[in-house]
This record gives sequence, structure tokens and C-alpha cells, in this order.
Amino acid sequence: MLINELIIKKRDGNALSDIEIKHIITLYTKGELEDYQMSALLMAIYFKGMTDKETNALTQAMLNSGETIDFSYLKGKKIDKHSTGGVGDKVSLILAPIMASLNIYNPMIAGRGLGHTGGTLDKLEAIPGFNINLSMEEFKKNVAEIGASIIGQSKEIAPADKKLYALRDVTGTVASMPLITASIMSKKLAEGIDGLVMDIKVGDGAFMKNKMDARKLAKSIINTGKLAKKNVVVMLTDMEQALGLKIGNWLEIEECLDSLQGRGPADLLEITHGLAALMILLSGKEKDLKKAYDLSVKSISSGQAYLKFLEMAKAQGAELEYLKNPQNMKKATYKIEFFAPKNAYLKISSALKLGQLNVLIGGGRLKISDRIDPIVGIEIFHKVGDKIKKGEKIASVFYNLEELKSEINDRLKNCFEFSSKIVRKRKLILEVLK
Ligand code: URA
Repeated sequence: MLINELIIKKRDGNALSDIEIKHIITLYTKGELEDYQMSALLMAIYFKGMTDKETNALTQAMLNSGETIDFSYLKGKKIDKHSTGGVGDKVSLILAPIMASLNIYNPMIAGRGLGHTGGTLDKLEAIPGFNINLSMEEFKKNVAEIGASIIGQSKEIAPADKKLYALRDVTGTVASMPLITASIMSKKLAEGIDGLVMDIKVGDGAFMKNKMDARKLAKSIINTGKLAKKNVVVMLTDMEQALGLKIGNWLEIEECLDSLQGRGPADLLEITHGLAALMILLSGKEKDLKKAYDLSVKSISSGQAYLKFLEMAKAQGAELEYLKNPQNMKKATYKIEFFAPKNAYLKISSALKLGQLNVLIGGGRLKISDRIDPIVGIEIFHKVGDKIKKGEKIASVFYNLEELKSEINDRLKNCFEFSSKIVRKRKLILEVLK
């Protein structure tokens, strides 16, 4: 099989066979297929798409590029949640300890930032000492003893996705339905879970820009789950504006700590408890959605989830001093603030533009080798629909590279739009699909 022929086949809109897909993934995982050829193939997939059969073959090939974890010896259910990626989306970090506090196992293999969206692993690595590269044995031990652990893809778990994820991030090939499905499901099927709740983000700051595409992705993920005999539930949630009030790796850890101690922003908590309730239903611990939601709320109000977070972080090497006293973390050198130009309602707070600004200041990557600056980020003070007085603070940007000042100023004001007419608050949870 010649790789250039397979690239041409896909470029011309033809379906690749299971064997061809397996061959490509095997070669790429072994380092025997060049990034430039894989990039071309990814772009062809981006434009021509894949059939359900191809998507499933790609998922299986990526899953089989590594090992599958066996958690069958654990008595309780193993349930995970995954997001397609958004701006300010730190939900996983709050959900995992909530689940653990409710005695539901949550083994979580998470990803890094993709494009303008943030990644759970990058956020965790903002915590001094936090190790996302546990051995498989350590990961299994932590899940068994604590209930939750969050790690990155090791060489054992879907190594093909690890390489492809990084390549897609810098080649403009993230927002592809089959590639997202295979990327997510290869990792999730390797986790040895019983059920999965997917948070598919919809809007300006998401890879799925409208509900129709989000529903298609939901179907694709649910189908792949069914073929693997896993229960998958999908929630579509709004990503026109960022989730919560903080964007940036350490800032988002701060917001998680606040949320776990009962001081979180309302939108972040609504999505977190909504997803938690679905996970609790999947686990069989509760049958009633409202009661499941209340269990999640109580896990935070009782302080149990916060304690679980500290336990999980300690087991992964975190310096607890910074989690208990986040104010002791070093601050970015520079700050730019943006104020409301008039009395008005906040009409747009663009998740996409804010995410891109966060990448520009070093909170994300422009190329594979870029190093993240964990301290930089953006704080926003209002949500869409808020009534704002002229001169009120709308956002602050914290950064370390002085030469970015004028570009930050230009971009920051373009992130927001105001209206003299009343603007409705945005609905957060859009749909649930099974
Ligand atoms: N999350 C993933 O793990 N993969 C994607 O492709 C997008 C979001």
C-alpha cells in the first residue's frame, strides 16, 4: 500500500478500507509515516469526511495502537465525562472529585489544549508538582483507592491519538467530525469505563459552530459507543461565551478551587452539576435526575468534593501549599484592563476571540513545540445579558511579554460588543441526546 495513493484516494472523496486505515495508523504510531504526509491525509479527511464505517475503523485502529485498561476487578461502575473543548471549560477538574466523593469511579484520560480551546492536562500542569504522566499501575491504584485520577495519554493508551492530536492542533484539522469522534472514543474506550457522558460544545468558541453539526457529532459518538457496547449520553452546551469568569491555566485552577469550596460562578456550576447528574444516572446510583443533581450539589456543599480534589492532587505529586493558598502563586508581570465604553447590555463576549487572545499571550500553543506559560490568562467580569455602566471593568489580561501590549489592546476590545437594547441571558444546557 503506497501512502501517497491512500492520500489521493481520500482527497478524491473515496472511502478507505479498514485495512488501509489500520495500516496508516500503525505506520504513523511507529514513526514510519512522515508528519507532512499525515497532515495531508488529515486535511483530506477534514474536507471529504468519513463514512460511519471508516470512523469506526479509525477509532478501533487508534484504540488498538495501545492497551486497554482492565478495571473489571473494581466493584462499582466506572463513568467518565469528556468535552469536545471550549474556552474556560474547567468542568472535568470539578467533576472527577465530585464522582469520587460519591463512590463512583472516574478514571480520566484527558487531553491538552487544541487550537484556541484549553486542555485539562495543561491546566493540571499549572499546579506545581502535578504529574499527569503516571504509570499505568499508579493510575489504576489511584482510581481504586481515591476514586478518581486524571492523566495524559501515555505510550500505552491510544498513542496514535497522542501524536495525531498534536499534529491536528497545528494543521487546522481539529474541527472534523470523524477525527474528533475517533480521537475521543479511542481514549475513552481504552479507559475500561462502563459509561461516558459527552459534553459537546456548540457556538463561536467550539469546534461545532451550530446545533446541527453538534447533533451529527453526537450521533457519531453515540454510534461508536454502541458498537463498543458502552452507554453514552451527550449534552449539548453553549460555547458562544467562555465558561466561568477565568481563562488561562492557573487562573482556571483558581476558579476550580473556588467552585469546589462553594464560591463558583453560576454558569460553571450549572453545567458541572448537569453533567454530574447524567454521570450519576449512568452509574445506577440514582434513578431520578433531580435527586442525582442534588447529590452533586451536596458533594460540594459538604466539602467532600474539595477534599477529594486535594487527595487526588496529592497522589499525583501536587504541592498542596498552592492549592490551599492559591494567592501565593506568582503573578504575571503585566496587566491590561478593558472598561465598558458606554451604559449598555453586554451582547457578545466572544469565546473564540478570548481563546485566541489567551493563546497569543502564551496560554496555548501555536506550534507543537511551544511551551505554555501557566500564569497568563484573562479574567472577565460580566456575562452576556448583564447591564453594565460606562467605565465598569469588563476584562483584565495578565501577561508576561511586554511587546504584546498593543496587540492585546487591539484584540481585547474586539472580544466584546454592547447593545443599548436588553440582551437575553444565554441558555447553557441546550439538549440531551442518547
Ligand atoms: N477532545 C479530544 O480528545 N479530541 C478532539 O479531537 C477534540 C476534543
